[in-house]
Amino acid sequence: MKLPDYTKAKNRKDKNNEVISFNIDKSLINKYKGKKFFLKTYGCQMNEHDSENIRALLLKLGFSETSDYKDSDLVLLNTCSIRENAHNKAFGMLGRLKNLKAKKKNLIIGLCGCMAQEKVVVDQILSKYKYINFVFGTHNIDHLPKLLDKSLTDNTQEIEVYSEEIALVEDMPIKRDTSYKAYVNIIYGCDKFCTYCIVPFTRGRQRSRKKEYILKEIEKLVQDGFKEVTLLGQNVNAYGKDLYDDYSFASLLEDVAKTNIARIRFVTSHPWDFTDEMINVISKYENIMPSVHLPVQSGSDRILKLMGRRYTKNEYLKLFRKLKKQIKNITISTDIIVGFPKEEEQDFLETLDLVRKCQFDNAFTFIYSNREGTAASKLKDETPLKEKEERLQRLNKLVNHYFLKNNEALIGKVEKVLVEGVSLKKKDHYFGYTEGNKLINFTGQNIKIGSIVKVKVLEAKTWSLDGEIYE
Ligand code: SAH
Ligand code: SF4
Ligand code: F3S
Repeated sequence: MKLPDYTKAKNRKDKNNEVISFNIDKSLINKYKGKKFFLKTYGCQMNEHDSENIRALLLKLGFSETSDYKDSDLVLLNTCSIRENAHNKAFGMLGRLKNLKAKKKNLIIGLCGCMAQEKVVVDQILSKYKYINFVFGTHNIDHLPKLLDKSLTDNTQEIEVYSEEIALVEDMPIKRDTSYKAYVNIIYGCDKFCTYCIVPFTRGRQRSRKKEYILKEIEKLVQDGFKEVTLLGQNVNAYGKDLYDDYSFASLLEDVAKTNIARIRFVTSHPWDFTDEMINVISKYENIMPSVHLPVQSGSDRILKLMGRRYTKNEYLKLFRKLKKQIKNITISTDIIVGFPKEEEQDFLETLDLVRKCQFDNAFTFIYSNREGTAASKLKDETPLKEKEERLQRLNKLVNHYFLKNNEALIGKVEKVLVEGVSLKKKDHYFGYTEGNKLINFTGQNIKIGSIVKVKVLEAKTWSLDGEIYE
């Protein structure tokens, strides 16, 4: 048994950039043929991407996938710790699984992802959730086959969570969600330690993947006919800092653009280290999408300081305006937290003022959630929840107003759209995303899923556009 430990997870001293190739014990391949798994993902894109690796590992073991957990032999929850409601969802599911296991004794239950990295969660599993068969963390996904097998063969509860990073694993098997859009990890972990955030504990130290591996993966995706890659990291702007002296995220973006993949996206960018080189590269290459997710979190300098965000409202606005000016047709989205400890009405009004100035294309808004072990969890939080909820409502009303306004400005324009699906009800109704990352529903005939087409925007809604195929 190997348990999580926050003191170790906080450690940023020992560098470990060791890279190993994925390896599987051959005797496990197809050992579980005939069994079915149900995999549920609760977190961010990084978490979803991990699930694509997990799915491939389970398929290798011989399992097939089912979308009905009641019909499965193995249920695996890939969890998220970012806010309390993510926790509650996973624990709610564990409750349902307990009932199912009472009827179906051979059901295997596993838990992985960010919650597995939390000591409080694993302690709870050890004391109250004895029916969970195995637990592994974010640093050792490649150990899944052997852990699952051991738990089943020895009939034991296997818990293996590393708090400090172990080697980066290359060549992990992967079963991607689509055949035209792909996530590609470029940097793991985070060293920013924003005071409210649990990610630096659950995902460990910032570690970049070597550029050769990234470019090789993308070249293969191009060969396989993929149209879009999303470069993933908790803060992609920090790419390369731990590996190279003179190769940055801007250098990587440029090299990726040269692979000729049709569309490149990247998430997430921290405003603090968004460089001019990055702006130059984004504006220079047509296949780098003019769409940036730039979380601001708050418009109050006092709160930004308490959050440890390393920029002021004015510095954010300056960067925002520079992006708008230098990148043609750019769309900018953001994340905002309300009700951070010590946030007063005056601070909140600063956030509303910033929203009025930026008029974001999209925004994810959250009520602050206290995460055990973070620096902010030690701050006194006196604002009643009711007041926080009211702030969230006021904020949402304002951000929604600008989503609609920005969408309305697109009426009559022709947008390039990556087609992602066809409506189940009406065969001539399709949907996809514009270069600016806006969802568009449109009509047309015999359009190939995964192709890039031109669509004329006819109508605007708050969260989507309506249109028709052009030409
Ligand atoms: N690495 C990314 C995103 C991390 S999590 C970044 O830094 O932008 C995504 C969003 O969740 C954050 O931007 C933040 O707005 C929100 N979030 C993180 N921790 C939170 C907490 N404790 N309470 C509420 N929202 C939180
Ligand atoms: Fe969390 Fe901040 Fe790192 Fe984003 S940059 S993952 S909010 S610590
Ligand atoms: Fe959640 Fe972990 Fe992602 S906490 S948001 S799954 S990095």
